[in-house]
Amino acid sequence: MTTTNTAETATTFPLGPFQVHRVGFGAMQLPGPGVMGPPQDRDTALAVLRRAVELGADHIDTAQYYGPDVSNELIRAALHPYGDDLALVSKVGALRNKKGSWLPAQKPAELRAAVQDNLQSLGVEQLAAVNLRITDDIPGYVRPALEDQLAEMVAMREEGLIAGVGISNATLDQVRTAIELADIVCVQNAYSLADQSDADVLALCAAQGVAYVPFFPLGSAFPGMPKVVDRPAVQAVADRLGRTPAQVGLAWLLADFDNILLIPGTSSLAHLEENMAVAEIELSNADIAELEA
Ligand SMILES: NC(=O)c1ccc[n+]([C@@H]2O[C@H](COP(=O)([O-])OP(=O)(O)OC[C@H]3O[C@@H](n4cnc5c(N)ncnc54)[C@H](OP(=O)(O)O)[C@@H]3O)[C@@H](O)[C@H]2O)c1
Repeated sequence: MTTTNTAETATTFPLGPFQVHRVGFGAMQLPGPGVMGPPQDRDTALAVLRRAVELGADHIDTAQYYGPDVSNELIRAALHPYGDDLALVSKVGALRNKKGSWLPAQKPAELRAAVQDNLQSLGVEQLAAVNLRITDDIPGYVRPALEDQLAEMVAMREEGLIAGVGISNATLDQVRTAIELADIVCVQNAYSLADQSDADVLALCAAQGVAYVPFFPLGSAFPGMPKVVDRPAVQAVADRLGRTPAQVGLAWLLADFDNILLIPGTSSLAHLEENMAVAEIELSNADIAELEA
């Protein structure tokens, strides 16, 4: 897609009242396999969180339903008391059952209960932002009206429980509605070199000054989904620049639009170091054309 890359790539972008660095951290890879249960190596999970902040991450994405209850507990154990500039962002609208299924929980009362759970488990009085996560269609589930869900999110913002409202896994129309009714600060949708189907939402966010936070920026940990690092062009550019394919995939996102904030997920200290270093990578227009071809 058309890029807005210039010689100067912005290093920060507003996330509601926070001005965050464009490379943050996603906490979904910290719990056990399948995002269920405790981490295989708790000490490393805690070390990854601490190192992320040391390396400049001031935007951490989480959810009460990661684990469930695991990511937030780890974040608190590793980082509380938090620095004033750390933006903790969560999402509501889903639950996990014991088998690990992702279930919708989108009634306004469920959204409120989920925000309360996040505040309590993270040990904060306010979350920097909370994404209303729209679940995929599930047979038999009647999703409450988007307007009602957004009204509850706005009410919680007015009460001071959250500083900014976001929306996630949302269509272009849903994002338009959320901008109009809730003055959202961020959109969190799937987007990467391996899946650019959300480009229209990204362009809308860029035009409106709304932060766009791609989930699955590397193609996710889920088997069967196309991985950015497997793309031959990504590998070729990485070889040429002396970088890793993951770094090139993330650097392309940073170059794509200034309102993109990264939250790559990793449970590995080595991968974290790689990911946090992508802000210093400059892709040429030729690199970008090759990656997008
Ligand atoms: N709103 C939503 O609905 C939603 C959905 C999914 C995710 N999210 C958020 O988005 C964040 C990012 O998505 P994600 O974690 O699912 O997927 P991702 O960032 O696209 O990919 C994570 C996978 O990439 C691997 N990886 C990370 N850094 C790497 C590197 N430098 N080199 C090679 N492999 C690397 C990880 O393995 P290792 O652990 O081995 O590094 C893991 O398998 C999540 O952590 C979560 O906070 C939001």
